[in-house]
Amino acid sequence: MKNVFILTGAGISAESGLKTFRDTNGLWENFKVEDVASIEGFIKNPKLVHDFYNHLRPVMDKAEPNAAHLAISRFQQLLQNERIYLVTQNVDLLHEKAGSFNVKHMHGRIDECVCLQCHHVIKTDKDIAYNMPCPACGSHALKPNIVFFGEMPMFMDEIEQQLKTCDIFIAIGTSGVVYPAAGFVATAKYYGAETYLFNLEGCQNNAYFDHVILGPASETLPPFLDNLDK
Ligand code: OAD
Ligand code: ZN
Repeated sequence: MKNVFILTGAGISAESGLKTFRDTNGLWENFKVEDVASIEGFIKNPKLVHDFYNHLRPVMDKAEPNAAHLAISRFQQLLQNERIYLVTQNVDLLHEKAGSFNVKHMHGRIDECVCLQCHHVIKTDKDIAYNMPCPACGSHALKPNIVFFGEMPMFMDEIEQQLKTCDIFIAIGTSGVVYPAAGFVATAKYYGAETYLFNLEGCQNNAYFDHVILGPASETLPPFLDNLDK
């Protein structure tokens, strides 16, 4: 009985037509990270930040999962859920669209806003006006429910626990630059897991991976997961 920890990043959604962050022509190329993805940037110019995510929401909504998302979902259906812990850094919903359940969006979700005043979370598939009042408390402090630089990622306590107890750690499509996610592989390896990276190219924290499988995840991941000893 193996416990499997899966961490996905923007690379898994690249073949679904969604831009990654740091590749050429990536999301950050035309924007400054500190303007649209930091808490300071949001406080300085909430309209710019809401406009950025309002633009992204329909783009993400139209995207369809690719063979890599589908392989993870198939894998999850085959094994009992409690043996697979699926964490994504992505705010898109392609894992859910592929049929995955219990996806831990550690950097938040594009279909949610959170009130900075009362912490009420609202679902939204529409544009959010930067001065829209919170439906729960009426204050004008709705922020995309996306973890910005300067904020704590979500689910960190349970993630830590799962990293310590997993037998296999698999990272897919992530550059290994953004902490704490970039440090997950080191923790998993320290506690005895066998570690795998599926990425287009080598990444920042390669040294911690026992196996590095280079190539598009839609081609490399399905045969691996379909044949993993269950
Ligand atoms: P990055 O854009 O930093 O890295 C994407 C990685 O995916 C790169 O290493 C690519 O080589 C790889 N890649 C691209 N296409 C691929 C493919 N078809 N198959 C496999 N790999 C492929 O994205 P992340 O590591 O996810 O945070 O970025 C981490 C965080 O940085 C994001 O969650 C975001 C950003 O700040 C928030 O928005 C909160
Ligand atoms: Zn509120």
